[in-house]
Amino acid sequence: MASDTDIQQLEAAALKDLDAASDIAALEEWRVGYLGRKGRLTGLLRGLSSLSIEERRTVGRAANELKERLEEAHEARRHAVEEARVEQVIVGERRDVTLPGPPLPRGRLHPITQTMRDIVASLSGMGFQVAEGPEIEWDRYNFEALRIPQDHPARDMWDTLWIDYEKDGRRPMLMRTHTSPNQIRVMEQREPPIRIIVPGKCYRFEATDATHEWMLTQVEGLAVDEGISLADLKGTLAEFARQMFGRDRKVGFRCDYFPFVEPGMECRIDCFICRGDGCRTCHHSGWIEILGAGMVHPEILANAGYDPERYTGFAFGMGVERIAMLRYGVDDIRHFYSNDLRFLRQF
Ligand code: DAH
Repeated sequence: MASDTDIQQLEAAALKDLDAASDIAALEEWRVGYLGRKGRLTGLLRGLSSLSIEERRTVGRAANELKERLEEAHEARRHAVEEARVEQVIVGERRDVTLPGPPLPRGRLHPITQTMRDIVASLSGMGFQVAEGPEIEWDRYNFEALRIPQDHPARDMWDTLWIDYEKDGRRPMLMRTHTSPNQIRVMEQREPPIRIIVPGKCYRFEATDATHEWMLTQVEGLAVDEGISLADLKGTLAEFARQMFGRDRKVGFRCDYFPFVEPGMECRIDCFICRGDGCRTCHHSGWIEILGAGMVHPEILANAGYDPERYTGFAFGMGVERIAMLRYGVDDIRHFYSNDLRFLRQF
């Protein structure tokens, strides 16, 4: 049997439960529990049938009014819960725009590039201009014009990668084995005074080992003018060697043979590891060879159309990998091009 007291009790219980419902699911459960077809308020209304008509009217009205209040309360609560949820999502997704960004890995220059830049900076500081030439070269520039004729034993100094060039068998092509052909290319195009350096990749038909690669980087140098002497060569290369390896380096020259220079020589520095006492790096000689050089052979000047009575010149050529190995203490040339990041990250 339903009465006013029942209604009051039901209202108090319903509002208390509603207050405790803190999310959408709990609210829905509450709605079904109180206002649903099998809910507690519906049950109470059903009980009205046992009342007198008079009672049925008053209690019935009170129950209907309660139903409206509960629906309103439910609606208000639902609204509040919804709003709190949205607020929570917004706070949760807020981004702190003042946070520093994730660090980007920083790249670095390859050790050969770094060494090349230092070499070029040193020599251009002494007035040498950078010139470049092709990596695929004619036999004529790579060998013939440099006084290395076919079948001459000097060819053995440069194991060569030949390129099949069927159209014209008389002008064989190759991957240049050194940067020296650019001496000829430059002299063909310019008149003295000439002061150039030629940086570039060279290729050799070579079994690789700790000191040989099939690809290498060289820098060639050439100076031609009136009155250039061996003293200019020595002064230039001594200054270069000291800029690269330290001001207190001793610099020495020793006879060597290259077909395109006369006299030919190697330039060497005192071993900066053992300071001359003898160690593995200098093969216990106290000296380290850093490049080849010499006075440009008069025949080469004449072939370029220069008067060898009037002009003289010096030339030099160095392997950048060798210089880098010495500077950084790298014991195997193959490290430079095997792309092992553990090696490259050290520079
Ligand atoms: N081209 C030589 C080589 O690859 C290096 C060289 C030696 C270059 C003496 C020169 C030079 O210009 O004068 O072994």
